[in-house]
Amino acid sequence: AWQRTLVIIKPEAVKAGLIGEILSRFERKGLQISRIRDGRIDRALARQHYIHHADKPFFEGLLDAITAGPVVFAIVEGPSAIAHVRNLVGATDPVKASPGSIRGDFAVELPFNMVHASDSPETAEAEIRRFFGEGA
Ligand code: CMP
Repeated sequence: AWQRTLVIIKPEAVKAGLIGEILSRFERKGLQISRIRDGRIDRALARQHYIHHADKPFFEGLLDAITAGPVVFAIVEGPSAIAHVRNLVGATDPVKASPGSIRGDFAVELPFNMVHASDSPETAEAEIRRFFGEGA
């Protein structure tokens, strides 16, 4: 089924100059980047986005990382886009992410895994609304 998913190019990836590299991997796969914008995530928005991790020991460090600088938000869409994007992004932990994936190729240590991608259709729609507004 046709799906859309939210991708966040995290501050460490923007700082490393990887915006084009990351977006081009989605495009070369055959997915479409239907919306894109730059921005920042403040601490309140970061808490909301990652609230399901609030009880984890790494929560404050995760908030520090995602609020550290500018990010890029993108809506990526196409057939089975959620699974394709997650495959291209790789496992959460860069140590476990396969070479060839974005995290496997460019990340070395949590929480700095370069990209966030929605994990289900329901999460994707909520995250798209969170970062692109209610009409998106
Ligand atoms: P993301 O896909 O954005 O979703 C939650 C984020 O929390 C994850 O990427 C990592 O940046 C971070 N994270 C997940 N697990 C850990 C961990 N064990 N230690 C530190 N950071 C983590």
